[in-house]
Amino acid sequence: MHRDHLDPVSRRDFVKSAGALTAAAAIGGLVVPRAFGAHAAGADTIKVGIVGCGGRGSGAAINAISADPGCTLVSMGDVFKDRVENAHKYLSTPSDDVSADVAKRIQVPADRRFYGFDAYKQVIDSDVDVVLLTSYPCFRPTHLKYAIEKGKHVFAEKPVAVDAPGIRSVLESARAAKAKNLACLVGFCWRYNNSMREAFKRVHEGAVGDVTSVHTTYHGGTLTRNPRKSEWGDLEFQMRNWWHFTWISGDHIVEQAVHSVDRLNWAIGDRLPVSAQCLGGRAARSGPEHGNVYDHFSAIYDYADGMRCFHSCRQIDSCPADNKDYVFGTKGNAVIDGWSGQAPMKSRDGKVLWEGKGTSADVGKMYFDEHKELFASIRAGKPINDAERGANSCMTAIMARMAAYTGQTITWEQAINSKESLVPTELGFDKPAPTAEIAIPGQTKFT
Ligand SMILES: NC(=O)c1ccc[n+]([C@@H]2O[C@H](COP(=O)([O-])OP(=O)(O)OC[C@H]3O[C@@H](n4cnc5c(N)ncnc54)[C@H](O)[C@@H]3O)[C@@H](O)[C@H]2O)c1
Repeated sequence: MHRDHLDPVSRRDFVKSAGALTAAAAIGGLVVPRAFGAHAAGADTIKVGIVGCGGRGSGAAINAISADPGCTLVSMGDVFKDRVENAHKYLSTPSDDVSADVAKRIQVPADRRFYGFDAYKQVIDSDVDVVLLTSYPCFRPTHLKYAIEKGKHVFAEKPVAVDAPGIRSVLESARAAKAKNLACLVGFCWRYNNSMREAFKRVHEGAVGDVTSVHTTYHGGTLTRNPRKSEWGDLEFQMRNWWHFTWISGDHIVEQAVHSVDRLNWAIGDRLPVSAQCLGGRAARSGPEHGNVYDHFSAIYDYADGMRCFHSCRQIDSCPADNKDYVFGTKGNAVIDGWSGQAPMKSRDGKVLWEGKGTSADVGKMYFDEHKELFASIRAGKPINDAERGANSCMTAIMARMAAYTGQTITWEQAINSKESLVPTELGFDKPAPTAEIAIPGQTKFT
């Protein structure tokens, strides 16, 4: 299954809702301040660049341009030339997905389309105000660091890193962004979903009483496998199957289910666990395209006050799907559905505490809404920076992966200080690809 099919939101939905809201934003009249962050003083155009021109990069470009009437895409970069060129063609050709207005604001001539491992520097250095970082997770810390050093506002897709050194770097960049008054919004899109916000607000206000535990799930099918082509070397093969290699994606608890780990943190007021245990393995994955990732995890998080919370995720076909947050309180329970937006809350004896009708339309437009808030915050001179919180949620997921791979209980202190660096410092298609061993609990060592 391709992730576009797994994720419940079609591009058409983004654009439809995006169109309606762009009109609303224009009517609302966005204020253009004299000067803010990286944006040229007095200008009403915001120049945007993308690093990573795949599915999410193209989607984020549409979201960004639709979210702000003054936004123009001016540069694009990717490791692979075909990805840049295909995305450029897709974005600049009006279609059911891309409105004529969006296509008109794709202004990326050939000399601002970059490819190769250094393409990120060229995009960031190409006179952009905002950069959308949507490449593979393993590269995010490096790309983010460079963008903030160069004074750019950032949208950074989740996950922001795959290992603790990466998270520590992102935390530093988040602090640097704050000091420079730069935006750094991490793509935990459910945090920008109106139905979810209402549901979590009710939970925080005590609709189900004091929260005693939370169990979140992200159960879905497996992701695309791209069989080897004769012209691909080992590294290209891994990168074209990146979801399945831990050094690139972080494994699916970090790459995909981190949304649900983040919602677990959200439900309990972003408190962080003191330790994690996690069961996991590969029951239904085999073959080279499946790399070295697991296909299921079941995490137990312990907190300083004795609370225990849980997260489980699965990528196995022909099993029931589930993407819910089960919140247990002293008065009753909430079941918050990530895909439908519904969030019914009931007392122990079945009395409705809140109907939580929600709407899947909010799931459809959350990607747009996060960009709308991002650009409005930049224009208001109060740029959103949620990168520390985003990094902590990613670390919460990484910590569970560490516990699953080693079979040990891992404390937060151990995890955040881990020296294990999964990302090679030097990468090149002419160099050997990283090895991808499958972790064995009880044998794989924590480092
Ligand atoms: N928020 C969400 O719901 C959501 C949904 C989908 C994807 N994502 C995230 O977005 C990111 C991208 O996912 P995708 O589905 O678009 O993957 P994708 O494979 O479709 O696109 C990623 C692109 O990045 C490019 N790339 C890789 N390394 C690069 C580098 N060093 N420099 C420049 N470009 C590079 C790849 O060649 C590819 O074109 C991932 O972090 C993923 O987790 C988030």
